[in-house]
Amino acid sequence: MKKNQPIGIFDSGVGGLTVLNEIVKLLPGEDIVYFGDTARVPYGAKSPETVKNFAIENSLFLLEHNVKMIIAACNTVSSVAFPYLVRKVPVPVIDVLKPAVRKAVESSSSGRIGVIGTNATIRSRAYEKQILRLRPKTKVFFQACPLFVPFVEEGFVSGRPLKDIVKIYLKGLKEKNIDTLVLGCTHYPLIKGEISRYMSKKVLLVDSARTAAEDVKEVLKKRGVLSGKKRGAIKYFVSDSPEMFKKCGKKFIGKKIFNVNVVKEEVSYVWSKCRRKF
Ligand code: DGL
Repeated sequence: MKKNQPIGIFDSGVGGLTVLNEIVKLLPGEDIVYFGDTARVPYGAKSPETVKNFAIENSLFLLEHNVKMIIAACNTVSSVAFPYLVRKVPVPVIDVLKPAVRKAVESSSSGRIGVIGTNATIRSRAYEKQILRLRPKTKVFFQACPLFVPFVEEGFVSGRPLKDIVKIYLKGLKEKNIDTLVLGCTHYPLIKGEISRYMSKKVLLVDSARTAAEDVKEVLKKRGVLSGKKRGAIKYFVSDSPEMFKKCGKKFIGKKIFNVNVVKEEVSYVWSKCRRKF
């Protein structure tokens, strides 16, 4: 691992940009390679085996770009593939599940915590297991909210249609009197306002982007490989639809994204190599 190597971040699409944003704020000197697997999104509707394969393939793509560490910025990957990734990938890997769980467990005073995420994330029960590991007496309640992802991507981040769907999904959790709600999906921070209005301002909403960025800093610092530069460069790669990525990505980071490289051939080459390797 060397200081001047870039950090690698991958997600199923644009969602991981919430994590990238926080990393840039905290570590502006780092070079970053971001890969959004826009050809195969959504991961939240796929089986654990498929998500594991995608996670390995995406990591291999980033390794080909000489990254010093990898951030699995997708909650679905973090929930179903993380231990597998750590075993297979030869550089440090950071997930987005543990940082959020740590924050939720520290913040909850009643010990009643809710978790929302994609179908695959909720089915894996990974958040529940991690919460109970850190605080065994916690009552954990969960709800899959698969429609939130297309709502956010279509720009419905407030208003009537979103209010209705928030109510349908979160009614059960509201009745459970939770004091903390983990937003276990890359897209949910964008609809925090509507979720908070429905659940009550008293319910703390925890998202993992900032805490994951803090974990990245700690790992790089510990290993003495924080970049010495003032400002790093960001390279964006997607497996399909760069225009959609740019359009949607702007909503996630609040500014225009330039230079999105579509790497269909490169990824299929890396992925076929990956199938032989693992
Ligand atoms: N990035 C995914 C997650 O955080 C949401 C989108 C998808 O289903 O791929 O779980």
